[in-house]
Amino acid sequence: MNRTESTEQIIEGYKRYVVSTYNRTPVVMVKGQGCLVWDLDGREYLDLVAGVAVNSLGHAHPCVVDALNRQAKELIHTSNLYYTIPQLELAKRISDASFGGKVFFANSGAEANEAAIKLARRFGKASGGRYEIITMTNSFHGRTMATLSATGQEKIQKDFDPLLPGFKHVEFNNLSAVEEAINEKTCAIMVEPIQGEGGVNIPADDYLQGLRRLCDKHHLLLMLDEVQTGIARCGLMFAYQHYNIVPDVMTLAKGLGSGLPIGAMVASEKMADMLPPGSHASTFGATPLVCSAAIAVIDYILEQNICGHVKQMGEYFVAMLQELSEKYPSVIQGVRGKGLMIGMALKINGAGIVNECLANGLLINCTAGDVLRFLPPLIINKEEIDSAARILDGIIGGLTAEKGGNHA
Ligand SMILES: Cc1ncc(COP(=O)(O)O)c(C=O)c1O
Repeated sequence: MNRTESTEQIIEGYKRYVVSTYNRTPVVMVKGQGCLVWDLDGREYLDLVAGVAVNSLGHAHPCVVDALNRQAKELIHTSNLYYTIPQLELAKRISDASFGGKVFFANSGAEANEAAIKLARRFGKASGGRYEIITMTNSFHGRTMATLSATGQEKIQKDFDPLLPGFKHVEFNNLSAVEEAINEKTCAIMVEPIQGEGGVNIPADDYLQGLRRLCDKHHLLLMLDEVQTGIARCGLMFAYQHYNIVPDVMTLAKGLGSGLPIGAMVASEKMADMLPPGSHASTFGATPLVCSAAIAVIDYILEQNICGHVKQMGEYFVAMLQELSEKYPSVIQGVRGKGLMIGMALKINGAGIVNECLANGLLINCTAGDVLRFLPPLIINKEEIDSAARILDGIIGGLTAEKGGNHA
């Protein structure tokens, strides 16, 4: 990259050369370390977006950097025509940490979900010609044609019709709606244990258990999209482990590689046979290089008890945000979260606060229009949380002062 270019020149360059599918914030990021990132103009930011729940161990974590350096000198890629040791090592770790199944590797969350959808189709075909998958309103499963058809948000699907048939959307956190939607064509239920993009929506404690029961009763697959909730994000290695159930299929991506592109579909040993040789593939799926990063991530999480740390920091962060919520009831609706997947629902649109945070050196994002979302690196500490809370306090305090100081 030519570092003599200015931020403005780079943004102009994007307009000319990069398809403008994203509403980007006008900063050029050049460096990251731990929970901090720096832009081209040398400004420092506390990063509570973490690549949208991707940089699980923060930026440039030594264990990831060392693993990549070591592996890059050995073997970066050979394709899935051959066996490699890092792929097996990673599959073993994922299987051992979850429900003992087998893993199909891809490069992203959407692709992991594509694999799950294809598996469900083959399962349905083999069990009475069924093909319908029940998914939830406000869900998010990706942007490929199959996964956006699975997604329960019209704004994601708009102008891409005709959508892939075979998905039925029902209200999230409503077991009777699911029961009513099941018919002789249904083969699977696909659901995020906690909805991320939909607004950090946490279902009732017995929701996943209820879905499990319905799946058992009607011989359906329970497919959990843990792309955002997985890899210790919610305080256990996988969010489903909070609910005393076991899925048939689970998908992962985001935090698994702490920045390296990897997706994984985990299926119970029996269901994994639904995808025999030739039925699915990915050229880049689980190269030795990305696997070396993901192995380092999982080992670090287990060895350093990062799940325990996430629980502690999550509770601390939520308590800090609750204080703000009590202080500014005219702006804040409430705070919800599990581990370090935290949402602060507002009574106003969140875009202004996100921009003010940026100007004050804090990266957060807003989902569903009015939910501030905090997905920090799992290694965040109390001082960093304090600093984020101070910045938010200043900004929201300023807003209520503008509105006439109407906070309690
Ligand atoms: C729950 C969930 N599933 C799937 C995806 C899609 O993942 P990707 O963008 O890696 O394709 C996302 C992305 O935000 C997600 O949050």
